[in-house]
Amino acid sequence: MNEAEALAFIGENEVRWRGRTLTYFSGCDYFRLARNPQVAAAAVLSLKQNGLNVAASRFTTGNHKIYAQLESALAKFFRAETAVLFPDGYFAPLAVAQAFAGEFTHAFVDELAHGALLDADRMLDCPVQTFKHRDVANLKKALTKYGRKTRPIILTDGMFSHDGSAAPLRDYLKILPANGMILVDDAHGAGVLGATGRGTLEFENVSGERVVQCVTLSKAFGTYGGAVLATQALREKVLSRGRVFVGTTPLPPPLAGAALASLKILRSETSRRKKLFQNTAYVRTKLRAAGWEISETPGPIVRLRVMNETEVRDLKTRLLAAGIYPPFLKYGAAAQGVFRFVISSQHTKAQLDNLVEVLIKPN
Ligand SMILES: Cc1ncc(COP(=O)(O)O)c(C=O)c1O
Repeated sequence: MNEAEALAFIGENEVRWRGRTLTYFSGCDYFRLARNPQVAAAAVLSLKQNGLNVAASRFTTGNHKIYAQLESALAKFFRAETAVLFPDGYFAPLAVAQAFAGEFTHAFVDELAHGALLDADRMLDCPVQTFKHRDVANLKKALTKYGRKTRPIILTDGMFSHDGSAAPLRDYLKILPANGMILVDDAHGAGVLGATGRGTLEFENVSGERVVQCVTLSKAFGTYGGAVLATQALREKVLSRGRVFVGTTPLPPPLAGAALASLKILRSETSRRKKLFQNTAYVRTKLRAAGWEISETPGPIVRLRVMNETEVRDLKTRLLAAGIYPPFLKYGAAAQGVFRFVISSQHTKAQLDNLVEVLIKPN
């Protein structure tokens, strides 16, 4: 597999590519907090005060007080008992699975789950089975096959980034035996979905009692790092049984400082989330009016139908001619190759109109 070509990020919504400045409808910095001056200033301040790196595990000499501050801010934002930080979002489900090892009899994984969950399920130390993507009936069939003596765990993304759909967590809980749990990789839902941005759990109106939420700080929060929102009991288990927490250096203090600033912004500036969904609805409505079939999903993603090679080439050319970087994704759950436009709260009306105009132009 080849790496993608390098892009230089030069503005909130602009990238430099092959010497051209293009509008960007990709990446997962949904609120452009990675380019926010307050977030950047917080990173610089923390860099000056705390240095670049603690260079040790939090179990030894690397436990700076900024980590406890960030964990408590995360717990407050997500209304959880506690949070446990990890160097990045990929580690969070791995660490939870290590903590849960041997406690479940079977694991059931959505067939389009992110790689982090596919790695995590191996650490659960139990047989693993996939179920059809977001298919409650298929999962129910798989769950009932093993009878009453099972203690299952379901692993799923919260918001799926290939189309912005959300895992039907409420329905999963209805069919899950009382001793079962759900492990949600909410890398994309966190900060985005739900009335206050608490993510897929809030969107689905389910509590964290039997649902463990893992998040990343590298998408909606614009910084870097991962976390699990946990009960006190799970926190203790992750610390005592999870090798990930013990054996890694925590995220650099400047990024922790930056994350504290982005949490503050997402808590106080609720208009950003409103704008994100207004922008998404604007594009979807215009495209549908012009005949495109666009799925209604809760996430800020506009995914086009699968196209043949000629159509793909033609649309790439037209997007580039209009000054738009062509976000053609051939990866993970979109392995067959699709155009996936990620909408941001910061896209201007002119940028959205330009995109719509290209897409509705007849071939
Ligand atoms: C669904 C999902 N889970 C986990 C991750 C990993 O997060 P991070 O980049 O913070 O390691 C990503 C990021 O690419 C993701 O899309």
